[in-house]
Amino acid sequence: MLITLGGGSPQDCGKAIGILATNGGNIKDYEGIHVSKKSSLPIIAINTTAGTASEVTINYVITDVKRQVKMVMVDKNCLVSIAVNDPELMLGKPAVLTAATGMDALTHAIEAYLTKGAFDWSDALALEAIKLISQSLEQAVKHGDDLEARSKMAWGQFIAGQSFSNAGLGFVHSMAHQLGGMYDLPHGVANAILLPHVERFNIPSCTYKLKRVARAMGVGVLDMSDLEGANAAIKAIEKLSAAVGIPSGLKELGVKEEDFEKMAENAILDVCTGGNPREVNVDDAIAIYQSAM
Ligand SMILES: [Fe+2]
Repeated sequence: MLITLGGGSPQDCGKAIGILATNGGNIKDYEGIHVSKKSSLPIIAINTTAGTASEVTINYVITDVKRQVKMVMVDKNCLVSIAVNDPELMLGKPAVLTAATGMDALTHAIEAYLTKGAFDWSDALALEAIKLISQSLEQAVKHGDDLEARSKMAWGQFIAGQSFSNAGLGFVHSMAHQLGGMYDLPHGVANAILLPHVERFNIPSCTYKLKRVARAMGVGVLDMSDLEGANAAIKAIEKLSAAVGIPSGLKELGVKEEDFEKMAENAILDVCTGGNPREVNVDDAIAIYQSAM
């Protein structure tokens, strides 16, 4: 058996080791959906960030440094046996890491809520996660020793993970995976920057649901039309991102326009793209990368 301790990257690494230990071969053999034949070694996953929720999800991500892409393995055989989420283990995390991982969790909740694969149970978890994360992320970033804020974040990321592990994600993750593979940008930061731009693109396909995202984030939407509510959700995301110190664009992180085409092509092929509420093509992806600069 394995015991994994840490945030998303160590947990994903542990899941890869568990699959290779029982199935053999090279990790590249398992890219895609349910490729492995046998269950992983039993894993006890002790999570220390809020977070990727890797300790409860059906997938793991490993970077192929040669191809500069993040390989996504969706695999029922990688589910851990016991997940441990103790917010006291998260008290000492630095503000920058708390912000990035927290925005990743918010992205999971919002994408799981808007994805084509969403259903009643995943919606309930996603909306509650959006609420918990919106209420507590800024406090957890600015006052890292606040156990109540850390507890809400630990719970929020955990149910966001259950939601997206069952419903799926969307094009924010598809595009963020390329920034991770190409520039090694932190996953949460890439998601946080892209999230408002992708959801603005998605508005025509999920206007009412985005209005409900705004409500879950604490915006008073009673007198708003669906479109006003959807735009309010995007504003609320941008406001939270800025409040926790996420950079406002990709340019300041060294992203170059000349890489957009390759990243856009790879993003379309990403396993998360099929779940996006609106159909998307390479030109759309390039335009979204451009708007996020
Ligand atoms: Fe993520």
